[in-house]
Amino acid sequence: MNILLLGSGGREHALAWKMLQSNKCSKLFVAPGNAGTNQIATNIELNPNDFEAVKKAVLQNNINMVVVGPEDPLVNGIYDFFQNDSDLIQIPVIGPSKRGAQLEGSKEFAKQFLVKNNIPTAKYESFTAQTVEQGCKFLETLDAPYVLKADGLAAGKGVLILNDLEEAKAELKSMLVDAKFGAASSKVVIEEFLDGIELSCFVLTDGKHYKILPTAKDYKRIGEGDTGLNTGGMGAVSPVPFADALLLKKIETRIVIPTIQGFQNDNIDYKGFVFIGLINVKGEPIVIEYNVRMGDPETEVVMPRLKSDLVEIFDAIAKQELNKITLEIDERSATTIMIVAGGYPEEYEKGKEILGLDKIEDSLVFHAGTKSVNGVIVSNGGRVLAVTSFGNTFEESIKESYQNINKLHFDKMNYRRDIGFDL
Ligand code: AMP
Ligand code: GLY
Repeated sequence: MNILLLGSGGREHALAWKMLQSNKCSKLFVAPGNAGTNQIATNIELNPNDFEAVKKAVLQNNINMVVVGPEDPLVNGIYDFFQNDSDLIQIPVIGPSKRGAQLEGSKEFAKQFLVKNNIPTAKYESFTAQTVEQGCKFLETLDAPYVLKADGLAAGKGVLILNDLEEAKAELKSMLVDAKFGAASSKVVIEEFLDGIELSCFVLTDGKHYKILPTAKDYKRIGEGDTGLNTGGMGAVSPVPFADALLLKKIETRIVIPTIQGFQNDNIDYKGFVFIGLINVKGEPIVIEYNVRMGDPETEVVMPRLKSDLVEIFDAIAKQELNKITLEIDERSATTIMIVAGGYPEEYEKGKEILGLDKIEDSLVFHAGTKSVNGVIVSNGGRVLAVTSFGNTFEESIKESYQNINKLHFDKMNYRRDIGFDL
């Protein structure tokens, strides 16, 4: 079949690479893609949120399936757009409906869903500009640190964790009254702080059945030792060494099963990935967030470890026959290290020529922010490349990635030298 994948990051390059291993995939298009996806598939220049442009590309290229990488087209309702268009209704979209995507699009919706389905999560209340004073009073009832979350999508920047009560009140006002995160913070969820180690669990579902993908842990801060500003993710490790069988069992029974059951109870059409962000508090997994897509850079370690045919899995999801699939997972560890532009996540330059890509051995290089200019590959974003390696232990895989990174170069390139330091 002909497949269209929407998105342009390292996640999409890894998904494209994986789908191309399937003999069910005849032609793969990526929109808009990057220099890496263009080497293995055909890029189409369009904005994934312009659904009319997506429709045109789908019909022109006889697309039989659409796979959605990032969250915004999902939150904007691309699944429903296909369902409501007589030319597109037969073409499966891998990703949830608009209502399902609210699990990521609205923190409040996610919290209500969690509570309704008795899934462990931090205690919370939500507030608007009208109830900002009640919000301040609620903060007084909590212990520091204080967790404030903008309700809507804020490009990963909408969560503030503050140690000081007065500062927390001031930030709450700035979010609600001064629209610090624009419309995304017209509502704010305040929740109890959870002290533990984070991990992520990735689930594939057709709305009825589910399969659990390997766990992964990403490193969000720019600086070594988990310091400095938050980024989209500076590296990832899979599996998570501390996620033992007991913890995984608890995640499945207390979180995954009730989540899928919740979709059914609420008639939420959901055919895609569920990314569950968890904190392990003394052996008890507690949900901090849902995302309705794969993580980036987690995809760059999870997909290489998946031995099963991804297109066959997507096809089974579209037909609601995911129960017929058995997932085969590579036992080895995989690590990815993100190479970023100097200055990222603040200001950075683009257009730097990338050297050494042809010298990489025994690692996979997934492109994130890259483009090809007259045959020369240059940087085109904050996160530029993800270098993934395997090892019998995560230490071995990390070593392999660092050895290959030494062969890569572009002006002001930066990466964390300590991925996996805490494991
Ligand atoms: P979220 O966008 O909800 O994942 O939040 C972003 C980050 O904030 C998470 O990756 C955690 O590091 C942190 N975080 C979110 N909620 C909590 C919480 N209740 N307690 C502690 N840390 C949190
Ligand atoms: N790496 C975190 C995310 O994709 O949200």
